Amino acid sequence: MAELILGIESSCDETAAALVRGGREELASVVHSQVAEHAKWGGVVPELASRSHLDQALPVLDACLEQAGLGLEAVDAIAVTHRPGLIGSLLVGLGVAKGLALGTGLPLVGVDHIEAHVYAATMDLETTPYPCVALVVSGGHTALYRADGPLRMRRLATTLDDAAGEAFDKVAYLLGLPYPGGPSVSKLAAEGRRDAIAFPRYRPKRGELGFSFSGLKTAVLYHLRGGDALAPTPAPEAIADAADVAASFEEAVVEVLVRQTLRAAELEGVDQVLVAGGVACNGRLREVMQAEGAARGIRATFPRPARCTDNAVMIAGLGWEHFRAGELADLGLDAAPR
Ligand code: KG4
Ligand code: ZN
Repeated sequence: MAELILGIESSCDETAAALVRGGREELASVVHSQVAEHAKWGGVVPELASRSHLDQALPVLDACLEQAGLGLEAVDAIAVTHRPGLIGSLLVGLGVAKGLALGTGLPLVGVDHIEAHVYAATMDLETTPYPCVALVVSGGHTALYRADGPLRMRRLATTLDDAAGEAFDKVAYLLGLPYPGGPSVSKLAAEGRRDAIAFPRYRPKRGELGFSFSGLKTAVLYHLRGGDALAPTPAPEAIADAADVAASFEEAVVEVLVRQTLRAAELEGVDQVLVAGGVACNGRLREVMQAEGAARGIRATFPRPARCTDNAVMIAGLGWEHFRAGELADLGLDAAPR
């Protein structure tokens, strides 16, 4: 069966709607990014995010239906992100989805944002990747999962402190680069030497899995202060080796992500890894994960870039799996920040 699912996403700073048939075929996808609204604050301001979702939700939905040339009568179910995320942001998408379900009589499906990120990596695959290990790496999350199916995920490890994307955003701020930091740090890194500065790589205790990026972020700060923790942080224009800092920082993040992910795959005895979330856009991460994976007989799959960052295609996709499994929600569906 190839039911048509309308997906709605509003968990952070993207308002998105998509129409996807049978969990794979994208008929329409619209994403309104609030990046410009949050850029001057260097990060997402929750109150501004909720207000912007309120302004954008219906225009984005209309644009999505128009893109597909379809009306709501063509839709079989409405899937909406209900966790995790900013509570005020989640509530806007959830309110719209419930209103539509009530008005049309269509079934409602609640989708987990993290599971949906992982699903995005499977949407273009010819064969099923399960069992596998999934790395979700974004501005809010850095965690490893074992997945035995799209709806069967178990968390193996997470970060002790910052998410990898958050570290990119903070280093971008120190270097005077625009928010979001991932793309801008990555662009500058292309002009620098990856081995210029020996930034620390986090290693969990023997036999354990896990991530930490706060020590790396502090090491970047100390480097910029000339090794003197108490010295003032230099203005971005006074940093002579910014490209080397960007390249060496990116290399350290990539090395930690790759090492832990492939280790998790070996511990779980699987030969497939899925990498998803905004940081999965990173070219160096793709390159190193695929090369090091291949050297160990492990295949690494990434979503296409537009499906790495927040979008509603992944929500409609995973929503179809829930729908097919008969996992429907009612109007009591709640938003959960965690
Ligand atoms: O998945 P996403 O859109 O939102 C969250 O759920 O967090 O991820 C956004 C994060 C930001 O921290 C951004 O800096 C990072 O993904 N990002 C990247 C790249 N593109 C986006 N990080 C590294 N390299 C990139 N090319
Ligand atoms: Zn996300």
